[in-house]
Amino acid sequence: MVKEKILVIGASGQIGVELTLALRKLYGNANVVASDLREQNPLLEGTGPYVSLDVMNKEMLHVQVIRQNITQIYLLAAILSATGEKNPNLAWHLNMQGLLNVLDIAREEKLTKVYWPSSIAVFGPTSPKQHCPQQTVIEPITVYGISKYAGEFWCNYFFQRYGVDVRSLRYPGLISYKSAPGGGTTDYAVEIYHEALEEKKYECFLSEDTYLPMMYMPDAIRATLELMEAPAEKISIRTSYNVAGMSFSPKEIAASIQKNIPDFSISYKPDYRQNIANSWPQSIDATVAANDWGWKPEFDLDKMTVDMLENLRK
Ligand code: NAD
Ligand code: SER
Repeated sequence: MVKEKILVIGASGQIGVELTLALRKLYGNANVVASDLREQNPLLEGTGPYVSLDVMNKEMLHVQVIRQNITQIYLLAAILSATGEKNPNLAWHLNMQGLLNVLDIAREEKLTKVYWPSSIAVFGPTSPKQHCPQQTVIEPITVYGISKYAGEFWCNYFFQRYGVDVRSLRYPGLISYKSAPGGGTTDYAVEIYHEALEEKKYECFLSEDTYLPMMYMPDAIRATLELMEAPAEKISIRTSYNVAGMSFSPKEIAASIQKNIPDFSISYKPDYRQNIANSWPQSIDATVAANDWGWKPEFDLDKMTVDMLENLRK
């Protein structure tokens, strides 16, 4: 049996911190190497090895993979939807070349597995709004969505042509308290909890009735690990799996917070992110993930709100 050694790229980000900690629990601290362009997140300090690494520097990445005897890569470095619209060239370049560098090295070094997340941002205004299915019309309008959709096909290509066992999830907007989000359209659903505790009010950059697919981080981490642990023959989707958690609007998350902080108030000032949000589905159908490897979310809105507020208060 291969002794797995994992490299997490983008480990200081919103998902990276929690995924690295979860992988370290599963594989042992020394067997999960965290890496990022920026400094190590304080929550990772003392929990395992860390290297400073730019995924765009293929040579250095390759050296690290060989030097550290890496067998699996989790690639999380990317520019998200809102930041991507401010610098489309940079977003395309990082999101595409970063993935191609990793896939090439995975092929050359015969890595056992690669994880790379896609997003609900692959869907566009012509996709179904409710329970958006795995296979449907996909016409993204953001550079982020275009890069994710192209990336899905690169993953499929490397699997079909070279046998690289690369797996992927189309994450919904992710909500967490450990590490700050990195420039997405769904970031409001994290900011709102911080502001509710600190200011008792929040000005939302999306309108009150903007429903989006969302997921609490513990569900997202579990989905990732379940996908990666599933036997290869259970993986029928080699582009990226739809996964679903919950769907809510700013008005509904505010109401959920008010159940715990009655004097919290929300106001609305939609900006350029409204257009991005309007182009995405409101909810996702994850039947294929459920059938293939048993996906089932645990958190709904109110359960998440209680947990978020409790942990942020700490
Ligand atoms: P994030 O912005 O919080 O973290 C990304 C990390 O990558 C950052 O720490 C950043 O410093 C690092 N990075 C950037 N450029 C790099 C480079 N050249 N080399 C090495 N590291 C670099 O993002 P996140 O929210 O943790 O997202 C991780 C992945 O999940 C991304 O692919 C994102 O598209 C996807 N995703 C996230 C969400 C979400 O709601 N957070 C939803 C859908 C998909
Ligand atoms: N949360 C992400 C974003 O808003 C979705 O991929 O960009």
